[in-house]
Amino acid sequence: MKIAIGCDHGGIGLKAVVAAVIEELGHTLVDQGCFSNDSVDYPDFADKVCGLVETGVCERGVLICGTGIGMSMAANRRPCIRAALVHEAYSARMSREHNDANVLCLGARVLGPGLAEDLVRVWLTTAFAGGRHQLRIAKFSDLEGVSCPF
Ligand code: RB5
Repeated sequence: MKIAIGCDHGGIGLKAVVAAVIEELGHTLVDQGCFSNDSVDYPDFADKVCGLVETGVCERGVLICGTGIGMSMAANRRPCIRAALVHEAYSARMSREHNDANVLCLGARVLGPGLAEDLVRVWLTTAFAGGRHQLRIAKFSDLEGVSCPF
């Protein structure tokens, strides 16, 4: 898969760890920054990554900030994005299986690197179950007049 990744200054260390796992799994990474420790605004990077997912350039996105909260709030404002902020493997798996999450949000100041790696592995290898879950997603997705690539 082609996967977009983005972070703010709070997430830059973990972004390197996550990027390595994604590439090790054989995916193509599209790194949208940030690229230094200078203070930046997380919504700018959420917008870049979500834009690539919404237009179908990338199939999935990963967003990292200090807590993951700001990134998930910003990402979930977008009509085609289902962003999941996860801290443990069960939620990572279910966010794919039941919610078809297309963006994963991680908190670099919350998670250790080993746990974050596991979450990314689980999230990238779990398929959406479809069926009744598709109907539930449709109920909260107001996509009238919006075209999503999925
Ligand atoms: C930046 O200090 C911090 O607010 C940001 O990384 C994130 O945690 C916001 O939700």
